[in-house]
Parts: sequence; C-alpha cells; structure tokens
Amino acid sequence: MEKKLTVEEIGRLREEYLLPSTMTYYKKPINIVRGQMQYVYDDEGKKYLDAFSAVVTISVGHCHPDIIPKVKKQMETLQHMTTLYYHPVIVEYAKKLAEISPGELKVSFFTNSGCEANELAALLCKNFTGNQEFIALRHSFHGRTLMAMSLTGQSLWRHSLPYVFGVHQAPAGYCYRCPYHLKYPECDLVCAKQVEEIIKYSTSSHIAGFFAEPIQGFGGVIDPPKEYFKIIYEIVKRYEGLFVVDEVQTGFGRTGDKFFGIEHWEVTPDIITMAKGIGNGVPLGGVITTKEIAESMRGKVHFNTYGGNPVSMVQGLGVLEALEKYNYAYNAKVIGDYLKGKLWELAQKHPLIGDVRGKGLMLGVELVKDRKTKEPAAKEMLECMDLCKDRGLLIGKGAMAGNVIRIKPPLCINEEDADFIIKVLDEVLGILEKK
Ligand SMILES: Cc1ncc(COP(=O)(O)O)c(C=O)c1O
Repeated sequence: MEKKLTVEEIGRLREEYLLPSTMTYYKKPINIVRGQMQYVYDDEGKKYLDAFSAVVTISVGHCHPDIIPKVKKQMETLQHMTTLYYHPVIVEYAKKLAEISPGELKVSFFTNSGCEANELAALLCKNFTGNQEFIALRHSFHGRTLMAMSLTGQSLWRHSLPYVFGVHQAPAGYCYRCPYHLKYPECDLVCAKQVEEIIKYSTSSHIAGFFAEPIQGFGGVIDPPKEYFKIIYEIVKRYEGLFVVDEVQTGFGRTGDKFFGIEHWEVTPDIITMAKGIGNGVPLGGVITTKEIAESMRGKVHFNTYGGNPVSMVQGLGVLEALEKYNYAYNAKVIGDYLKGKLWELAQKHPLIGDVRGKGLMLGVELVKDRKTKEPAAKEMLECMDLCKDRGLLIGKGAMAGNVIRIKPPLCINEEDADFIIKVLDEVLGILEKK
C-alpha cells in the first residue's frame, strides 16, 4: 500500500523544502485529503464544513460532479497548446463571459491568477490613457506581484522595498472604523470624496486608473455604503482614469443574486479582473474590458503561457454552467441573508462581536475585546479558528489586525449548513467569553 505522510512529516518537509513564508492556519495544521461540494475531509476521515471555500476559490463546490467529467475528458484529449494555436473552448468561454458581464465589457484575456490579471489591467490603463498614476484603497489586497503589491493597501502585506511609483491609497468605505470618526449617512461620504483630494495633491492629476475590490476580502470584508463607488467613479472619470474592479473574491455570484459584486453599487467598470472562484479549484484568472480599451493593446505583444489553457477553460465554462443550472447566485442571496440575520442574533448575545457585514455568502464578523473601545480581539480570533476547526468548521481570518471572521462557503450550502455555522460559533464565542 502507498505510504501516507503524517501531519508531522508534512510539517517537517515543508520546513525543509518550502519558503518559510508559506503560511498555515491552526496550532496543529490539518491535512485535507478529499473534498465534496461544501465539505472536506482530513487524513483521519474527519468531516469539515468548508466555510472559507479554500480561500474563496471553491465557488460551486469541491469536485463538482457536473464539472469533473468534462475536465477529465479534456485532460485525456488535449491538455495544452497555448493561444498560438486555435482551440474552441477559449472562445466559447470568452463569449459566455461577454454575455454575463455588465455594459460593454466584451473582450477578455486569460491568466493563471488574480495578480497576473491585475498586472494586465494596470497595463491596459496605462496604454489606453497614456497616464501612469493609480489610486487604490486602504485595506485592499490585490496579489503578490510588484504592481499588485504596490496597489495593496495594507502594511501587513508589504515588505520594505521600492514599489511601482505613482500608486496612492484612498480611504476605504469602512464605516465600523470610520477614519474620520463620522457616522453614515451624515458623513456625506467624505471617504469617497477624498479620492479627489488625493488626486489633486498627490498626483499629476492625470491618472491611469482606480483599483478596488467591491467588498474587500483580506481587508476584513469591508462593504462600503451604496453611494461610495458612484462618487468615486465620477471623480476617476474627471481625472482621465479607468475604473477597475478586482472581482477576484467577489466574482461570479458570491455576493448574492448578481454575477459581479460591483453590480450592487450600480456602477459599470471599464475593466473587471477575476480569478479564484471562477476556476473553482484550477488556476484561472482573467480580465474583461471594452473593445475600445482592448484596442490599445493592438500591435503590442502580450502573452501568458498557460493563460486560457483548454483544461482551465473547460473548468471555467463548467463553473458558469453550474452557476446557471443550480442558480447558485440566488442561493448565495437566500442563504447569505439567512446567515447574516442569524449572525446579528448572535451579536445580541456575544459581546465579542463588534460588527457583522457583507453581502450574500461573503460575510464578515469583526471580533472586539470591548464594544466601546473596539479594540481588536486578534488573540481570540486565533483561538476561535482552532475551536471551530475542532468542531468541524473551517472559517477564514482577515483585517489588518487579524480580528475578522471570514465566512465565504461554497455557494451550494443550505440552511442546515448555515445553522451548523451558527451553532458552532455560538458555542465557541461562549467559551472564549468565559476565559
Ligand atoms: C481581491 C484579490 N485580488 C487579487 C488576489 C491575487 O490573486 P492570486 O493569488 O490568484 O494571484 C487575491 C488573492 O487572494 C485577492 O483576494
């Protein structure tokens, strides 16, 4: 029989052979060996509800039974040839994306990851506008390549090195911790209006673009007020920029009822970048933009070796088909609203909960030591993760202080799963509050 590595052996081998910045969750990491829809199983057969979707990558369910046979067939037929040759699935997928995307977003390019998609989006902004400078948001996360790190607005995710010049971060729409100590709506959205001040005082006033996640993921599920992006859109346009939304976490149904997160703010972006959930477990990222903006790349080479490979394209198409067939975006709204309501009920009972926010199945619960001071409960958050794991629930962690529970399960979860999340959190928060 094939020898299976134990958790301890894997730990030792990781320490010896992987970059030491390769992170893990939990005091004692778990070895996940199997996944089936919203559940995963460890090497001892213990079942977990994956309420973090393997970091928001599994949108329609682990090893979805509609998708796997199609991918298997493709893998047995042709794995790769690059876009230098014709293959039918890439155009079928691109056509379908154009059909579901808002406004005039019709032209795609595919990558393997979110940061590559953001790099290309920045390049498009520069080529189209002829400008160089960007505005992004505080608390944002856009990936680990140099441009993506330069856009990212969290010291936690920065190293001390020279970044791409001309990127400035504006305030996020983080009402729970408003940087101006104001209350919505009397605040008159001063955070969004700051974008103009930053452009006026910190740039040449000719910007290439603005980057934002509709709901900030790693930042701690920061879900800005409904007017926020409309105000910024208008400012960005006055200063020549393109409006780019990074839908790497929000993309394809997660925020409930709509394919894209930004649709909740009724703004049509110039460029959308995507990855993670659109591939449901395979490396697939992409950019979609208008024909006019895409034309700025004509005559200029761009290439990505595995971008648009047949296997990922079949998987991507399968994800879109599953989303439509099972109406998962609608399920995300129904179960998400139910879960959010229950989380607010928990907040009545548990003083550790400072805030509950998010849309659909992209929910955040901010833990605080004291509701008045809002001191982040980061240590409690770590313990909360371990205690949830012991009870068969995997959750994520976010925010600069690492004190926000991220609940982002596969979109196929049901009410019973939502009740399980609530039951476990209720018990675990009770334990932590007694300490
Ligand atoms: C919003 C957002 N953008 C971009 C990225 C980078 O994606 P990747 O890790 O696929 O490069 C991430 C990754 O977590 C993300 O959350």
